Amino acid sequence: MKTWQLGIIGHPLGHTYSPQMHEWAIRHYKWKGSYATKAIAPENFDKEIKMMKEKGTWHGFNVTIPYKERIIPYLDAIDDAAARIGAVNTVLRLADGGWKGFNTDAEGFVAPIHERLKGMHNALMVGAGGAARAVLAGLARHAPHIRLYIKNRTKERAKKLTITMAVAGLPIQTALLDDSPISRFDLIINTTQVGMGAYKDQTPLPRLADLVHANSFVYDLIYNPEETLLLQQARQLGCPFSNGLPMLVEQGSQAFNIWTGRPFPPEIIPDLFEKRTGENS
Ligand SMILES: NC(=O)c1ccc[n+]([C@@H]2O[C@H](COP(=O)([O-])OP(=O)(O)OC[C@H]3O[C@@H](n4cnc5c(N)ncnc54)[C@H](OP(=O)(O)O)[C@@H]3O)[C@@H](O)[C@H]2O)c1
Repeated sequence: MKTWQLGIIGHPLGHTYSPQMHEWAIRHYKWKGSYATKAIAPENFDKEIKMMKEKGTWHGFNVTIPYKERIIPYLDAIDDAAARIGAVNTVLRLADGGWKGFNTDAEGFVAPIHERLKGMHNALMVGAGGAARAVLAGLARHAPHIRLYIKNRTKERAKKLTITMAVAGLPIQTALLDDSPISRFDLIINTTQVGMGAYKDQTPLPRLADLVHANSFVYDLIYNPEETLLLQQARQLGCPFSNGLPMLVEQGSQAFNIWTGRPFPPEIIPDLFEKRTGENS
């Protein structure tokens, strides 16, 4: 019987539901194994990653905040889509001990809103990190007609994101949003940590009411807490909304398939999906 050693690296890791999902799936298939969490402090990242690679204990692992870009120099191969996105959330250990990187966030992001995207014309994305790259790539692939506005704490990083994604040939129009709202958006996406952990009492968009219309869809990639302040505001404004749980399940299922050759068993998904969207959706 196959024994799977899987895991996740990031910092911090207290919010993640990935171990529950992957361990359910391992048990469902009646395999042995586990999905471990390894929190790595930023100052130890390079040393720890080199040690992990030498030991070669894990068959595969996920990469989360803040390392989706920082892991790339340690890979021996990278899937084309992940290379274009410039962020990796899934690593597979190859037969020779080398590491291959993939990105399952882009497709995971799109899955829950795929049907809605056809009727949307513009979107506002907050954040410009690893998850933002995946969102941009997912929209470019499935909804290139949408004009995407980007707002980030560090403006330079947002600018760099639009340039690198344009160089990568992603067919989507992007623009930077300055502090004054210029429009109401069909889709609002939070790709930052604002709303969870130390920032759980904050919202990345305090003036949400000025940015939405009745049918704007508000999508927070955060799933723990289940309903961030941003989503509470969306609920009050009557907008449909979703947290990041459906995305988590979809990206996790695709990662599990990369490692084991099987997707998540559908039986585990309804439980997780119960929490996925708000009453307005
Ligand atoms: N649901 C899912 O499956 C899923 C998948 C991927 C990610 N996520 C979530 O997405 C979020 C970001 O992940 P990531 O990998 O993109 O992280 P990352 O690469 O570290 O990027 C973090 C982004 O958040 C911004 N940010 C962080 N703290 C902030 C603050 N106090 N105020 C304003 N902006 C702040 C950063 O802005 P600066 O550029 O100014 O630093 C950056 O744009 C996390 O909450 C993660 O859990 C969810």
